[in-house]
Amino acid sequence: MSFPLNPEQLEAVNFREGYAVVQSGPGSGKTRTTVERVHSILEEGYPPDNILALTFTREAALEMAKRAKLPEDQKIFRTFHSFCLELVHRERDKLPFQLLHAPPEPGQQRKLIGTLCRENRLDFKGLVSYISAMKRKGLSTDEAMEEALGAKGLHLAVAYKKYELKCREEGWLDFDSMLVESVKLLENNPEVLSRWQYKFVLVDEAQDTDDIQWKLVELLSKENKNVFAVGDEEQLIYAWRGAQPNGLSKFGERFPGSRTIFLFRNYRSTRQIVEFCKKFAPKKSELIDRMVSEVGDGPVPVVRLFGSDSDEASKILSSVVEPERTAILTRTNRQLSRFENACIDRGIKYNLLGRSGFWVQPEVKYLLAYAQATEFPSDAAVKSIIQSPYRETKYLKKKDLISALDTHAKSEKVVTGKSTPYIKLMTDPAILRQFTDQQCDNIKRAAQFIRSFRQPGVTPTAALQNTLDRADVKVYYETEEESDGDNDAIENINELSKIATRYKTVPEFLDFARKAIAASRKSKQPRLTLSTVHRSKGREFDFVFVTGINEGMFPHKKGDINEEKRIFYVACTRAAKRLTVSCFGKPSCFLETLLNEKENKICEIVSGEKQSEGPVWVRSQALLGFENLS
Ligand SMILES: Nc1ncnc2c1ncn2[C@@H]1O[C@H](COP(=O)(O)OP(=O)(O)OP(=O)(O)O)[C@@H](O)[C@H]1O
Ligand SMILES: [Mg+2]
Repeated sequence: MSFPLNPEQLEAVNFREGYAVVQSGPGSGKTRTTVERVHSILEEGYPPDNILALTFTREAALEMAKRAKLPEDQKIFRTFHSFCLELVHRERDKLPFQLLHAPPEPGQQRKLIGTLCRENRLDFKGLVSYISAMKRKGLSTDEAMEEALGAKGLHLAVAYKKYELKCREEGWLDFDSMLVESVKLLENNPEVLSRWQYKFVLVDEAQDTDDIQWKLVELLSKENKNVFAVGDEEQLIYAWRGAQPNGLSKFGERFPGSRTIFLFRNYRSTRQIVEFCKKFAPKKSELIDRMVSEVGDGPVPVVRLFGSDSDEASKILSSVVEPERTAILTRTNRQLSRFENACIDRGIKYNLLGRSGFWVQPEVKYLLAYAQATEFPSDAAVKSIIQSPYRETKYLKKKDLISALDTHAKSEKVVTGKSTPYIKLMTDPAILRQFTDQQCDNIKRAAQFIRSFRQPGVTPTAALQNTLDRADVKVYYETEEESDGDNDAIENINELSKIATRYKTVPEFLDFARKAIAASRKSKQPRLTLSTVHRSKGREFDFVFVTGINEGMFPHKKGDINEEKRIFYVACTRAAKRLTVSCFGKPSCFLETLLNEKENKICEIVSGEKQSEGPVWVRSQALLGFENLS
């Protein structure tokens, strides 16, 4: 059932001429208003290709498409990246270079950056983030040169220039360049610009939009001057990827004469949840002060304190009553593994949101493949190892090699009914023929490397340790790959090592891992939802558990405290009817104040010990001295 829009929402939906920005707190109907606006424009008879609704993450784009109930192949709700990928491909003949690979193969790109680092005495991560920052700021290689400060700055700028030259030569367009080149195509080619004009441009989760994306929005709306953006600055959780705080407040500078609409009514959460969230709002503001629940009363949020991580996982799972209306949220994928594993042990089916999930992370997949290679290098394990970015397999032409192996195996199977194992094929002249001498040497060395892991009977712990040592796995993550907002590869590797200690043999360990990977497959069936907070953005669930609010975990020890506060706020504001926040061991600063308050009216606090006795709710005063629980 769809409830009528309130007057401010209606104003936003029916706003037709010019620029408008909706700023409001969580659950106030920003996404609903955006979707309704698209419907109302379509109902007025405008064709779908007049409308473009952009957002930053795939999950948010899918959420809008789902709510709009438009066909799956619709092209209205898009991410900035998928839109730009299409634009550069369709306009490739206008690019000042030949486009061959967008995006390039990671191995090849890595090799280039590695070479540039050696030549210019730079560190890998530093150069990658410098190049990305320059592109997002819209600075060309020459402009970067002019801006460069000191010897290090100059080295970075030189490396950036060489990187771009090589990308041109190879026909590569990396992720940042897809946006930059789209903007350039539109700026420099009047015909391209006129081909890509939309009558209505909409942006959801606009707080996560960075400068170059705003520039793109300006260009796509140049003719019709109609932009409608909705967002909440307190929910900005992608600052680390270049989104600018205050991007929404500056909407008026970018789009002069714009109308700002504020929404204050929260239609998602009960009064008690709204009050709790207000207390945890990252900053005080009028928008937050004036937020009121339109839902009515419900139970007060509960803070649960557990003695151990396994206690938290198992007791929370036991208190799930309606799984399909419940979400368990964690700060990182590593923490999610506790819930995934506990669900598998209990036979509880779940759905992971977006790219969240511990067992599906690439570093976990690669290490499991190496573990498999200690028993025997199955074809699936060989393929995963080829894809891994570690020693000996780092610079392989991965896609070409895998496709050569797959094609050969397939045709062999048709003729003889069976196929040669991939590990053997890697040194077969029939495969190697299509590669250069240098590449052949690399492939043979990689095959030898994979074979050298064979050590049947070794324990899972020894198998993992051997891989970590010999393939320089941690060095790779420390020096070359940035951690994601909700994913830290080294944390995941440590967690996998911890899980491995529970199994005596590699086959037993891999059996569990296989079950976990199978359980990670998405299903259309409604089930319990497990997710990191990042992937749950924009979503809502009747019952929400925000878990692991422990020191060092949430706020994450590597995170910026303001961003961490916003992440926590996003997490709590997903709840509609009941919110439970929990920790084990030492509670983090997020809970400290609350726990130290003499009288607290916004939540109930329940100790782990009491919980084992049944649902006895204990007030905070009774809990002084809870630190002993760990
Ligand atoms: N006028 C309304 N009457 C009743 N329900 C509404 C109204 N407007 C929105 N809702 C409902 O409130 C919930 C929250 O709306 P929505 O997800 O659009 O909020 P949002 O502002 O986008 O939240 P977030 O900031 O978390 O993305 C949805 O279930 C939506 O259907
Ligand atoms: Mg929304």
